[in-house]
Amino acid sequence: MASGAGSNFEALVAASRSGALPGEVQLLVVNQPGCGASARAQRLGVPWQLIDHRLHSSREELDRALIAAFQQARVDLVVMAGWMRIVTPVLIQAFPDRLVNIHPSLLPSFRGIDAVGQALATGVRLSGCTAHLVCEEVDAGQVLVQAAVPVLADDDHASLSARIHAQEHRILPLAVQLAAQRLGLDQN
Ligand code: GRF
Repeated sequence: MASGAGSNFEALVAASRSGALPGEVQLLVVNQPGCGASARAQRLGVPWQLIDHRLHSSREELDRALIAAFQQARVDLVVMAGWMRIVTPVLIQAFPDRLVNIHPSLLPSFRGIDAVGQALATGVRLSGCTAHLVCEEVDAGQVLVQAAVPVLADDDHASLSARIHAQEHRILPLAVQLAAQRLGLDQN
């Protein structure tokens, strides 16, 4: 699931294709027409689908459309790789322990939107990213993998984001692998 540039989606595809991540990316779902993630899927030859939140009457209806797409694609795990919508218990309960999110902070610091801006505004010297299981409280599920990066004196939003992104691309495939192992999916 992606809403924006899709660099984490591409990192998952690359990890799968290199053999570093056992498993395949079956389907990308985006909610923003024309987003970078769908262009990457096109280039990489990964099936993708637009499920536009504006065409659904509620968050729950959107989640039901997502579930239908994932069930049809017979996925074992769902990854929110830059999905900029709040998901509801409808989706979370359909994929218990199978829904992974990546967030650009060392949770539990800086939950919610613009975690990079929050880190810069607070003046922390260390930030990073967290891959975690999704629960009903936003950005609060069980941590799978974290990576820390320094916040440098001359950092701006772009430079700190880039440093964090590089680590996201490293830890998200590891987190997916860990979640799959915990579920015994690697035995199948
Ligand atoms: C990442 O920083 C992720 O942590 C956040 O949204 C961003 C998505 O980046 N949830 P991309 O679309 O994968 O490039």
